[in-house]
Amino acid sequence: MRTLLVVETSPRGEQSLSRGLTEQFVTEWKKNNPEGRVVTRDLMTTELPFVNAPWLKAYFTPPDHHTAEMKDLLSLSDELVAELLAADDLAIGTPVYNYNVPAVLKAYIDHIVRKGKTLGFAGEGLVHGKKCTVLMASGGVYTEGSPIQDRDLATSYLRLILKVIGIDDVTVVAGGNAKAVDLGETTREAFLQRFAREIAMAAKR
Ligand SMILES: Cc1cc2nc3c(=O)[nH]c(=O)nc-3n(C[C@H](O)[C@H](O)[C@H](O)COP(=O)(O)O)c2cc1C
Repeated sequence: MRTLLVVETSPRGEQSLSRGLTEQFVTEWKKNNPEGRVVTRDLMTTELPFVNAPWLKAYFTPPDHHTAEMKDLLSLSDELVAELLAADDLAIGTPVYNYNVPAVLKAYIDHIVRKGKTLGFAGEGLVHGKKCTVLMASGGVYTEGSPIQDRDLATSYLRLILKVIGIDDVTVVAGGNAKAVDLGETTREAFLQRFAREIAMAAKR
């Protein structure tokens, strides 16, 4: 039985376009994996602290020397890492904010890139055999041929960090021109429909 881990990051609830894209992906994934299990990690309802000095001290202390306080500090990170390692497939729904991923997704990444768990001590990725689909909503369009393609930092960053931990089978569904929905030039449904085929293909691979 395959497990899909869905990481949601948009604060916009039912208005969110990235969540709409992710929902389509989950529907398609379920068609291909009727027995599969979907685990959702919603970063809007997960209290994710930023990395601070006590957390780093715990991070750099060998586990057999951890105090109860250190164990406590790392417990959420341990849980997020275990959740990731238990999944076969990963879907990340995310907006683009200021040309990059939202801070909450960066905070999540800081919790799951863990030496000895997802990243080896020689810098090698330890997360193997997983496929990731990124469902990204952006006001602008950054795909091939766009005059602002060089601003697509969010995609490059996600591909890079996923590769660093060992996930190199990554498909990005670039939901560009989301601003047309906010400006009332198109509907949420019509926007989401534009990516239905691409999402179905991504869920099949
Ligand atoms: C604070 C903020 C910053 C944004 N920055 C960018 C940006 O740099 N580039 C872009 O294309 N869209 C940007 N957008 C537009 C969002 O990517 C777009 O509204 C997207 O649909 C948000 O995802 P969601 O619908 O899942 O919440 C920004 C939106 C907000 C609220």
